[in-house]
Amino acid sequence: MAGLSLQSVRKRFGETEVIGGVDLDVADGEFVVFVGPSGCGKSTLLRMIAGLERTSDGRILIGGRDVTDEDPAKRGIAMVFQTYALYPHMTVATNMGFPLEMAKRPKEEIDRKVAEAAKILHLEAYLGRKPRELSGGQRQRVAIGRAIVRQPGVFLFDEPLSNLDAELRVQMRIEIARLHQELGTTMIYVTHDQIEAMTLASRIVVLRAGRIEQVGAPLELYENPDNSFVAGFIGSPRMNFVPATVMAVEDGRAVVTAPEAGLVGMAVATRGAPPKLGTSVSLGIRPEHFVPAKGATGALSGKISLVERLGGVTYGHALLASGSMITVESRDADRFEIGKTEIFGFQRAFLFGADGVRL
Ligand SMILES: Nc1ncnc2c1ncn2[C@@H]1O[C@H](COP(=O)(O)OP(=O)(O)OP(=O)(O)O)[C@@H](O)[C@H]1O
Ligand SMILES: [Mg+2]
Repeated sequence: MAGLSLQSVRKRFGETEVIGGVDLDVADGEFVVFVGPSGCGKSTLLRMIAGLERTSDGRILIGGRDVTDEDPAKRGIAMVFQTYALYPHMTVATNMGFPLEMAKRPKEEIDRKVAEAAKILHLEAYLGRKPRELSGGQRQRVAIGRAIVRQPGVFLFDEPLSNLDAELRVQMRIEIARLHQELGTTMIYVTHDQIEAMTLASRIVVLRAGRIEQVGAPLELYENPDNSFVAGFIGSPRMNFVPATVMAVEDGRAVVTAPEAGLVGMAVATRGAPPKLGTSVSLGIRPEHFVPAKGATGALSGKISLVERLGGVTYGHALLASGSMITVESRDADRFEIGKTEIFGFQRAFLFGADGVRL
């Protein structure tokens, strides 16, 4: 097992810098998830750790050892991709044992490690089958098994579940959590899936255009985002942002208004230096933080233009007089009526400056 350290790592493809100086320390046994919009550099960073992509600048340490220029095979890592790429003509057992076969390990050792991995992954009954005789989830487990037999110090996963249907994803997500508990090995995991990120990660790394925006425990990022990018990225549906103006500041709080949107004034806690009077800010409210207008500390007024009923939860999309659209969550399927103008109360909000930094 091993920890990992990225020290000012950069990656350039020709003139274009796609990773712009990333510093990150991952403790031994941690489960770290990389999230960020498409093209932000998640896979590139993972491939740099694996050694499949050369690092243009900076250093990568695995288990305290500088591996920046080391061969992928010598880094003590194993990578699992979105496409499982199993050998179709080989059985499950030979597919899983293949890395050890390549390393010319003795047959007895290969058999033992394949049997161990098959037990962990509940694949014992399938060892004699060919990949085409397996479900997608079983195939992905074989791919994970092929990684496990190598007993890597660090597992790298690049969207391993995104080819699976919704139900299998949920199953495999639980399997991966269990696998991490059982093995205790450091894992770095790339995903687009909010729920995977929130449930699997000990810490989430939010990337944007090749740089880290914020690193923290899932609920820390949800409760305490540093900027509007992270606030909008963590949480689903995404946070609503409403333009507002600072009309008063008091100890650790700013009172903001957005008259066109129906907000007459609300005191919001601030973190740093108080914003100046008259500053244009962005008020961030999560869809799940709306409450009945009566007794709420803030309220917006808008006209419902779309209702999405998902059974347990319903989303009302409302157009504010100021032109912003907001999404309001409710447990009541009959809460929203299309075309009706309503008051939406809320209890909690965040403030962001014009540059997106949390105030
Ligand atoms: N071999 C390459 N040559 C030039 N540019 C590349 C190369 N590989 C990746 N890039 C660019 O680097 C950036 C980061 O790509 P990367 O695949 O790491 O993104 P990602 O965050 O994994 O995206 P996705 O979520 O879509 O998988 C992209 O703009 C991509 O076009
Ligand atoms: Mg990718």
